Amino acid sequence: SEPLRIGVAGLGVVGTGTLTVLERHHELIADRCGRPAMVTAVSARDRRKERGVDLSAVRWFDDPTAMASDPEIDVVVELIGGEAGVAKDVVETALAHGKHVVTANKAMLAHAGTELAGRAEESGAVLACEAAVCGGIPAIKTVREGLAGNAVEAIYGILNGSSNYILTTMRETGREFGEVLADTQKLGYAEADPSLDVDGIDAAHKLAILTALAFNTRVDYEGIHVEGIREVSALDINYAEELGYRIKLLGIARRADGGIEQRVHPCMVPKSAPIANVEGVNNAVVAEGDFVGNILTEGAGAGAGPTASAVVADIMDIARGTNLPTFAVPASNLHPLASRGMHEH
Ligand code: NDP
Ligand code: HSE
Repeated sequence: SEPLRIGVAGLGVVGTGTLTVLERHHELIADRCGRPAMVTAVSARDRRKERGVDLSAVRWFDDPTAMASDPEIDVVVELIGGEAGVAKDVVETALAHGKHVVTANKAMLAHAGTELAGRAEESGAVLACEAAVCGGIPAIKTVREGLAGNAVEAIYGILNGSSNYILTTMRETGREFGEVLADTQKLGYAEADPSLDVDGIDAAHKLAILTALAFNTRVDYEGIHVEGIREVSALDINYAEELGYRIKLLGIARRADGGIEQRVHPCMVPKSAPIANVEGVNNAVVAEGDFVGNILTEGAGAGAGPTASAVVADIMDIARGTNLPTFAVPASNLHPLASRGMHEH
């Protein structure tokens, strides 16, 4: 049967990871989808850069937006990043041409997720973003599909791998924040601008997406109270440890009187709580459903392999024709979110 033709925009940590998974699991993916999924085109800034992946059989585009409108591509995978600019141009162009889009770009979705999901639905395309929330954890599938028949009371968790890796390493080694931050960059966990990680902004981007999924609301990043881990010292972590707590950067969205409270900040979590023991680059998401009870999913929240795993799962949904909406309901049914600040109740 006809192969699914994929164009990948962005060949950095996640882009090359995605090509590696698609290449190594070519047969497994074809078996599971009933058709092959083939990368036929790619785009990045520097054509001459050695990337450790074989690009000899694919078409190269210097301009990713031109690739997004190419008639011989069925799915555009956007792995460039950035809230707006070229990444958003690529996604908008692909959707305008009726192409499916897979993206890991939570910054873009936190700011324009409702609008882009609406555009996808208007053009009969899929906009899928499993990799945008917590790397390898199927966080979106868990809420959208697993909890489909539940009303959600709250959703919260460790949503940034770099921050969790930094807090864990500071506790284990006594090293200070600045030194450990450089490690997360070398490991490919950090954002291009790592202040997004350590100032809580990346976690808030993901929380905005999870809130929309859990509560059928429009994405509302602006309503989130955000604090990061910059002010947390190795001494704070050690004192917390002596008192029986771990310091974790949590993102929390919870029903509150007349609205939804959304916040991101460091929390003292009792060591007996499962989430206190989610360490290193791992993330965890807890969802409280009214029939299922609490579900906890844990796994690597960043890095090439785990994030590519989520990108490939979305590509496979498209190859199979499992065309689900971006959120738990069509974008036109998302209702406005009444944000409650932290101290309003
Ligand atoms: P990288 O910085 O490693 O890669 C970005 C890629 O985009 C590079 O290949 C770069 O090209 C390319 N690029 C940048 N600007 C342009 C342009 N104008 N035209 C064409 N290509 C361009 O980023 P990551 O792979 O880490 O992240 C990609 C996306 O995935 C981001 O949205 C990020 O938030 C998200 N994400 C990342 C995770 C991670 O663990 N790293 C986890 C989950 C999501 P060149 O290589 O030539 O410079
Ligand atoms: N920079 C992000 C993190 C990548 O550290 O969690 C995964 O979204």
